[in-house]
Amino acid sequence: MTLLAICGGLREESNTNKLVKKIAESTGMDYELVELGKLTIKPCTGCSTCMMNEGKCAIEDDMQGLYEKMLDADAIILGSPTYFKDMSGAVKCLIDRSIALFYRGIGPMYDPDMPFMGQRPLAGKPGVVVTTVAGAGHEEAIASMTFCMGEAHRLNLVEKLPEVIAMNDVDDMPEVLKRSEEAGKKLANALG
Ligand SMILES: Cc1cc2nc3c(=O)[nH]c(=O)nc-3n(C[C@H](O)[C@H](O)[C@H](O)COP(=O)(O)O)c2cc1C
Repeated sequence: MTLLAICGGLREESNTNKLVKKIAESTGMDYELVELGKLTIKPCTGCSTCMMNEGKCAIEDDMQGLYEKMLDADAIILGSPTYFKDMSGAVKCLIDRSIALFYRGIGPMYDPDMPFMGQRPLAGKPGVVVTTVAGAGHEEAIASMTFCMGEAHRLNLVEKLPEVIAMNDVDDMPEVLKRSEEAGKKLANALG
């Protein structure tokens, strides 16, 4: 089993990343951590190259390796800080670029009547989305992440965690850590 844990926080001491790691550790499985802060993922240009070339994205950056990791993963955890009531720009770049996966020729059709919508290679894989926020906007952010990973990519999201941290460190918030721990256990259960 391969568990991919994507840390969308770009800060060294990112609370979001701490929760992503907590969820991953709590599965009891081996996992691969991807830290977006260490990668270069440029924005999608909408060039449609991926649509016309079996999902091959024209932008040669670190997303190329991440495509393979996402396809290989049996489960995915995605964390993003809440920025302006949404996921961060760095995480949105990843999500936008992930559209190329729809054209790899893998997985169920999104809609047989709309072939241009492609396929869904991540469909059915269990996942967790998590966001942290200072005060407000976390519900909007988690809804946005749920749309992208749950509705668009059709992951089976077993837990969605919108966590309010204020100016604290999650390491000092046992209730928050506990919810992440439980999310990790749910993820492990979903994988059987
Ligand atoms: C660009 C930016 C936008 C933000 N937008 C919000 C917001 O809409 N609501 C809020 O309460 N906090 C907001 N914050 C604070 C972050 O959500 C909060 O500090 C978060 O926990 C940071 O996650 P991290 O520790 O993983 O970096 C924002 C911070 C930044 C840098």
